[in-house]
Amino acid sequence: MARGTITSYDQVEDRGFIRGTDNRVYSFRRSYVDSDDRNSIEVGMKVEFDPARAKNRKDFVAKNIAKDSTQAKSPKTRLKINPFTPQDPITDPVKFAGRNDSIQNAIYALFNNKNIMITGERGIGKSSVANQLVYVAQGDMDIINRLSIDIDQSHFAYAIGDHRCEPSNTLVDIVNALAISALTNLHVKWREARRTAEWQFDLKYVKRGQKTESERIQPSELINILFGFIVDIFEAAKQEVNGIVFLIDEIDSLSPSVQIAPFMKALVETLRLRGYQNVSFIIAGVTGTMTDLISQHPSISRSFETLELPTMTNSELREIITNALLGSTVTIKPSVTKKIVDLADGLPQPVQLLGYHSYRLDTNLNIERNDLQCALGFIVNQQKRQEFEDLYRHIPGGLGLETVKVMAIDYKTEMKLNEIAAKSNMRDQDFTGAIKQLVNNGIIVQSDRECYKLRTPIFKEYLRQKLQLSVLG
Ligand SMILES: Nc1ncnc2c1ncn2[C@@H]1O[C@H](COP(=O)(O)OP(=O)(O)OP(=O)(O)O)[C@@H](O)[C@H]1O
Ligand SMILES: [Mg+2]
Repeated sequence: MARGTITSYDQVEDRGFIRGTDNRVYSFRRSYVDSDDRNSIEVGMKVEFDPARAKNRKDFVAKNIAKDSTQAKSPKTRLKINPFTPQDPITDPVKFAGRNDSIQNAIYALFNNKNIMITGERGIGKSSVANQLVYVAQGDMDIINRLSIDIDQSHFAYAIGDHRCEPSNTLVDIVNALAISALTNLHVKWREARRTAEWQFDLKYVKRGQKTESERIQPSELINILFGFIVDIFEAAKQEVNGIVFLIDEIDSLSPSVQIAPFMKALVETLRLRGYQNVSFIIAGVTGTMTDLISQHPSISRSFETLELPTMTNSELREIITNALLGSTVTIKPSVTKKIVDLADGLPQPVQLLGYHSYRLDTNLNIERNDLQCALGFIVNQQKRQEFEDLYRHIPGGLGLETVKVMAIDYKTEMKLNEIAAKSNMRDQDFTGAIKQLVNNGIIVQSDRECYKLRTPIFKEYLRQKLQLSVLG
């Protein structure tokens, strides 16, 4: 009798895998599971079984599978607060990992009344960085102290207005949203001190914006409205506020017809010209058309400090896990941390995702290899299954599939064209067409000249399982 955990089960193909406590992978079918337990097959289920060899004598099969009787007495899932945040940008400065250089540079820029543009690939951590800067601007000292920054006698006490853009947004929408959120934030902060009339100007701007929208308000007038609003904020809250930060996130989702670049340029220049130095804009977006439009706009790029976020180092990715588990009773094995970091390939999002599900599936307050294996099984077979199946369908047959197989099976993350060809006993030039198509279809990415890797390491895990299925077939 052996024990293990179900790491995947594909209903359509009626095939699944169990990771044994001996660390071997056993395949199984539904009919091998005890009839009482057949309807409750799920990833993460602890089972006992009879190990056997597959027909090919190489692989392992699990027979006579039943729920692990030693686990049967604790079938309830305990709900616990999960400290990983795969779906949300980091808000809590304590959870924010790494990025010291970028943050230091940004705080310096804020201190010098500069505007900041945060760019980078999807999910790299732009909104999380923006959130930290907003906290700093509001006077939160956590990050400033962590980075040992000396801000001399001065302090940040900025009012904050923020907006996350949507594709349908116009300039009027953006200005209105910034004004409303700045007011809401001020209300929250000074609710006690300023309950009354001073804040009545708020509706004035909201209404003006809405009214004038139907009259096709001109950008120059919009700038004047926002300027008037800024003047009023300083007037009304001059005791408490020594600056304003407006955060505009996801500018890449705006339609190019919005003309955000000339608008920002005019706005920034107006504020400078009229002596309002201490108003800064932080804009963030995925590197691409919209952000390029701004960064390449010659007269505007001068007034923005560009913060291009690089991928995170392994030690920064490890810090994400340490920070998340800080103050929790759950620990994690160093080898599991290392595996998560390897799978994340420089991006914070997969660390949060793998951390979240490993934490969820852990039962003994210590995240071990088995928990990560189950988490990976869950992500590959359920959460990302649709996305990965779609990608799989876009792998061209013949040499395309051959390339993907070679890359999925190889232990190396990156491979050169000639290495792929050599593994298949073919010539380099036979593969050029297939590689090009795989890159175009988003299956592989070119990481360097002539070096290729699969889209993500988690996708590689999916392919390994998928291909193992057909190998066992
Ligand atoms: N410095 C960090 N420390 C810990 N976790 C982080 C950090 N940066 C990002 N994350 C995590 O990574 C994920 C993506 O972060 P975030 O939403 O900030 O990225 P983004 O670049 O704004 O993404 P998008 O392009 O989708 O807007 C989130 O789950 C977030 O919690
Ligand atoms: Mg974001």
